[in-house]
Amino acid sequence: MNNNAPIGVFDSGVGGLTVVKEIMKALPNESIVYYGDTARVPYGSKSAETITAYSRQIAKFLMTQEVKAIVVACNTVSALALETIKEEFDVPFIGVVKPGAKMAAQATKNKKIGIIATEGTIQSGIYEKFLKTTSPEVEVFGKACPLFVPLAEEGWLSDDVTKQVAQRYLAELKERKVDALVLGCTHYPLLRGVIGEVMGDGVTLVNPAYETAKELCYVLEDNHLLREANTQPVHKFYVSDGAEKFRRFANSILPCDHLEVEDVAVKSFE
Ligand code: DGL
Repeated sequence: MNNNAPIGVFDSGVGGLTVVKEIMKALPNESIVYYGDTARVPYGSKSAETITAYSRQIAKFLMTQEVKAIVVACNTVSALALETIKEEFDVPFIGVVKPGAKMAAQATKNKKIGIIATEGTIQSGIYEKFLKTTSPEVEVFGKACPLFVPLAEEGWLSDDVTKQVAQRYLAELKERKVDALVLGCTHYPLLRGVIGEVMGDGVTLVNPAYETAKELCYVLEDNHLLREANTQPVHKFYVSDGAEKFRRFANSILPCDHLEVEDVAVKSFE
């Protein structure tokens, strides 16, 4: 395996960019190839079979880019497809759920943790499963917030409508008095301002992206895969539709000046 090869990262759309941002901070020397499946977003309401098939196609595409590891920057894929697809490829896979659960267990003081995520992630019960294994004393309350994904994709990060939606979704978690809230969908950190405002100061918002980037560092170190070249890393972005819209959005949240984004359909990567 070539340690100067890029890291593959994928999501259903722009959400995974919140993970890319943390990877760029933690591993500034690494090159990244990102795939956002913007033509087929949202994943959150689709079946495990469909999500597994989509993820397999994307992983195959990323392998054509000769990536040395794949970060599944999507909770829904991490919950419903990761265990299956990681067995099919010859590179390490890193998901976002385990790192997020670990951070949540560290963040809570009153042992009441809220999880907000897509329908698929909430129904899988995966956060609760991981949390109960390491911290059986915690109480976990899940809430699916499907409208957050299109709001984030549209760039409505702090609009009134976003705040109203957040108030409605989050009311029951406030009643439960959770003191840590996992942003269990990679799109949600984009709405962090509104979510934080609605939940109030006493609630710690947990973004699994930080811990995922740390986990990636360990995996690369353990596998002797850290990039050694001292030239500038090269980042490439691919989407299944709407490259220009994606480019504008990515440019506004990533610390890079000129992003190149290309449309690539992965349907044929069976
Ligand atoms: N950003 C993804 C996640 O973390 C998927 C959102 C969606 O496509 O519904 O779950």
